[in-house]
Amino acid sequence: MQKNTPLNLLGGLSPAQFMKRHWQKKPLLIRQAIPNMRPLIDRAALLDMLESEEVESRLIVRNGEKWTLKKGPLKRKSLPSLKTPDWTVLVQGVDLHSHAVHALLQQFRFVPDARLDDLMISFATDGGGVGPHFDSYDVFLLQAHGQRNWRIGRQKKFELQEGVPLKILKDFKPESEFLLNPGDMLYLPPGYAHDGTAVGECMTYSIGFKAPKKAELASQLLMGLAEELSEKSGSSLDAIYQDPRQSASIRDACVPAALQKFAFQSVTKAVQDPQMLNCLLGETLTEPKPNVWFDPPNHEDLALWAWPCGVRLDHRSKMLFDDKHIFVNGESFRASGRDAKLLQKLANEKALSAKEASTLSSTAAELMQAWWEEGWWHSEA
Ligand code: SIN
Ligand code: CO
Repeated sequence: MQKNTPLNLLGGLSPAQFMKRHWQKKPLLIRQAIPNMRPLIDRAALLDMLESEEVESRLIVRNGEKWTLKKGPLKRKSLPSLKTPDWTVLVQGVDLHSHAVHALLQQFRFVPDARLDDLMISFATDGGGVGPHFDSYDVFLLQAHGQRNWRIGRQKKFELQEGVPLKILKDFKPESEFLLNPGDMLYLPPGYAHDGTAVGECMTYSIGFKAPKKAELASQLLMGLAEELSEKSGSSLDAIYQDPRQSASIRDACVPAALQKFAFQSVTKAVQDPQMLNCLLGETLTEPKPNVWFDPPNHEDLALWAWPCGVRLDHRSKMLFDDKHIFVNGESFRASGRDAKLLQKLANEKALSAKEASTLSSTAAELMQAWWEEGWWHSEA
């Protein structure tokens, strides 16, 4: 994908133009972003997915002003009939379960992988939707089947309705309205209020992004840091508090200022290791979602290990890198030189040829074997 090449997916804008003009800034309606769009998963297969423990899903039913929410797994028989209007089901992370959906998500890789989250599919009967709301993240709403009417507005008041099991805006003030047909797509930046109502039966694909909250990220990194520190010895962090200049203190319950300074310095010293923080960040960003299970090779296949071979990353694997590390599925590895270049290529392109694989060092080849045994990649002829 080239940064400056106009894309039909972005209504003729190049990724560079889109990022500059719209990303995190203003909505974009793209008619026929995907011409001849057909759903990648049919209705029956999507509704079957609701029964799985491994799939995150919700059923939302509207009855006038009243909303009900049921979290999955959901038995197909427990769903309202297809003739009943005003209900919708939302299936999260469908890219983890379908190669075709995963391939569609790859078209949005003009945004860094670290920000790309998942593809959610909603199915709704006539009038169905999740009500007027806003999301904290950027979203592309791609119409896959049937029609959906979107009303959107820059909302100033974000107050939510009380006593409702969903986040529904109290005072939604739409400014524009669009009827989307299959293949049409609407991009919305974070915090832009929207309400999509199915016009007849419809399916919408939401390409969602993730952006960590400062406090959440800090708490995740600090937890990782605490683990690292408990295993670390032989550094300046081993220093023990000393107070040879402490004056006599009689019945003094006040914490010594020197001890407070020591505590402050210990914490700042611990967080001032950018390499450690970068490592923990990469591990956090590639941590598989809780419902992801890899399929390791079976007993017979393990005996067939042959290196070098073509490498194809499993579609559930998350692989990122920085200038010193490679991160895969919640783990980090230091890499440099040719190994780093090739593993970075694997992260970017999700595949390596057998010829490229053959030039990895023996240490990297051992690592590749360990990852193969985890089911993180599959061999290709
Ligand atoms: C939907 O597909 O019904 C909801 C998507 C959204 O509003 O974010
Ligand atoms: Co939304």
